[in-house]
This record gives sequence, C-alpha cells and structure tokens, in this order.
Amino acid sequence: MRRYAVAFLGFGNVAKALARLLESRRSELAVRYGVSCQATGVASRSLGWWADAAGLTPTSPQSATRCYDIGDWLLTARPDVVFESIALDAHTGQPALDYLAETLRLGVHAVSANKGPVVYGYQRLNALADSHAKLYRFEAAVMDGAPVFSLVRRCLPLAGIRGVSGVFTSTATVVLETVERGGSIDDGIREAQALGIAESDPTYDVDGWDAVVKLCAVSNVILERALRPADVQRTGIRDLDPTIIRAAHRDGHPYRLVGRVSVDHDAVDARVQPEQVPAGSALAVSGATLVTHYDAAVFPGGLTMTSFAPDLTTTAYGMFADFLECIGAT
Ligand SMILES: NC(=O)c1ccc[n+]([C@@H]2O[C@H](COP(=O)([O-])OP(=O)(O)OC[C@H]3O[C@@H](n4cnc5c(N)ncnc54)[C@H](OP(=O)(O)O)[C@@H]3O)[C@@H](O)[C@H]2O)c1
Repeated sequence: MRRYAVAFLGFGNVAKALARLLESRRSELAVRYGVSCQATGVASRSLGWWADAAGLTPTSPQSATRCYDIGDWLLTARPDVVFESIALDAHTGQPALDYLAETLRLGVHAVSANKGPVVYGYQRLNALADSHAKLYRFEAAVMDGAPVFSLVRRCLPLAGIRGVSGVFTSTATVVLETVERGGSIDDGIREAQALGIAESDPTYDVDGWDAVVKLCAVSNVILERALRPADVQRTGIRDLDPTIIRAAHRDGHPYRLVGRVSVDHDAVDARVQPEQVPAGSALAVSGATLVTHYDAAVFPGGLTMTSFAPDLTTTAYGMFADFLECIGAT
C-alpha cells in the first residue's frame, strides 16, 4: 500500500467536497490503486498555513505546525499532490499562479480547480511540470469536472478542432431563470450562492468574466491559441431588461449567456454575450446544467457534451480524476 500525502490549498466548497469524495472512495483507492490517502497540509486565507507530514485533520488543523508561506508549508507538509482551489482572480490568476509554480518547482503534482492560472500561466506551469516530471492538471476549471481537457487530450487527438462554444457559467443561467420567474438579478445571485455554484465574487459570473476566463482557458489549451480576457468581446447579463428576459422566455427563445471561440487561420474570434436560443436546443440549458460544443473537422455536425445538473461533487470529481492520473504518473 502506497501512502499518498495530499495538501489542500484553499478549503472552501470545492475542497471540502473533494475531501468527502476522497473519504468515500477510500476502499476503492486501496483495492484498485493500492493507495491510502492522508492529508498533511491545509491552507486558506482565514485558516493560515498548517502542515504536519504525519497527517492532520483539515477541518481542525490547529494541532499541526503553523507555517508562514507556501514554501515553508510545502517543505513541512511534504505532499505528493497539492489540491489548489482558492478564489479566482480573473485579472491576474494570482496568487494561485505563484503557488502552483512553487508547488511544481518543489517536485509536487499540482491539481487545480482554478481557471485563472490556466489563462495566465498555462505554458509556464506546464513547462515547470514537465521539467520536474510532475503533472499540472485542472480538469475542474471548466464545466465543473465534466471532461473537457482530458477528453480532448485522450480522445480527440488531431480531430481538427476549430471552435468551442457553450454555456459555461451555471450561475448566469440560474440568475436568468430567476428573472424569468419574476425575481431580480440579486435574487438569482442569492439562489446560486445557496447552491454553492457562484464564484466567491458573483459579479464575475453575472458580468461574464467567469465565462470569458473559461473561454481563454479553452483557447490556450485546446485551440493552442493564447487568448487573454481583454481579447474577448464581453457582454454580461446585468444590463438585460427583465421584461425582455421574460418575454423571450415566454416566446420560446430564452436568453442564455453563451461563450464562443473559433479559429480561422491566424485569427481568433472570442465572445461572451447573452443570446436567445431556441427552447429545447442544446444551449437552452436549465439550472446548473452546462454544455460544451466542439466544432471539429472530423465531426461535420459538431460534438456536444452536456453535464446535467452538476453539483459540487461533480467539480470535486474533476480534481479526483486528475489525482488518479497523478497516481498513475508516479
Ligand atoms: N464552486 C464551484 O462550483 C466551482 C466549479 C468549478 C471551479 N471552481 C473554482 O474552484 C475554486 C474554489 O471555489 P469554491 O467554490 O470552493 O470557493 P470558496 O468556497 O469561496 O473557497 C475558496 C477558498 O479559497 C481560499 N482563499 C481565497 N483566496 C485565498 C488566498 N489568497 N490564499 C489562500 N486561500 C485563499 C478561501 O479562504 P477563506 O475560507 O479563508 O475565505 C477558501 O478557503 C475557484 O477558483 C473556482 O473558480 C468552483
């Protein structure tokens, strides 16, 4: 049995769901992978940095050693993998980007739910991972843990993907549906927060930043075109008139916040905006449901993947699946 030490950087909704998932898969991990999992580090803004290479309880780490920065924390916790799920900074990807770089530099696998570092540091983090024979994985960053990056990496090599579109922000859908039922944007934000799906700063979702950042991550990794949020034409849902949202819903063409990125020779076109979509179509999602559509040379009508009503466990599963890949790589 191989003991696998794990450290949680950020211990909010996603990390707690991951801790529960790891616990619920304990016997399968032992039987199928020969691995036992032990938390040796936990850190968050309010908790501070806690580590104990012998093991700690992430929910009450105070008997462990208090550390003062990421380097100290990693050296004390000695993890095999760091699970990073701190709040998104859509404008710089920091401080997560520096934390992930330090993790990989010290020869530790980095599994992240955070799309910021994918946008602002994918090439650099990937190169660091390669040079230390470790993995940088981020499957949970887009589409809440449904396979996006691993799907393309493992199942669609040289498929000639020219464009990706979809509904990437479930909070925006929840807000639009609340307005369709007669509520306000703020009512919708509260509903999304109660579901645990809103960003720490929900204006990121409503103003389209969350979808913009996801589109950039998709472009950087899947289309291999560097795209920054400033390059994406962005219109959020905040300024949509509620009466127009309700009329569109009644007419069978509801608004959804749609992201599209496509490549034509050297040109990349990327936009996030509210679009009217036909009721019943793949883009006319409801609740937390997310959809990604790939426009690819080998799929004449495109390839669509829908994740119906994902929850926090789905997101945690994205990190868990990445973790299994790390186990396989060492
Ligand atoms: N929720 C979802 O459905 C979902 C889906 C896909 C991806 N994600 C991504 O997953 C990440 C976490 O989401 P979440 O829902 O778990 O958020 P959350 O509940 O707000 O938790 C964020 C955690 O990060 C910590 N944190 C924030 N800034 C930090 C910093 N500078 N240094 C150290 N710790 C810091 C917070 O500390 P405190 O507790 O002290 O505030 C908290 O523990 C985000 O990047 C998000 O974009 C979330």
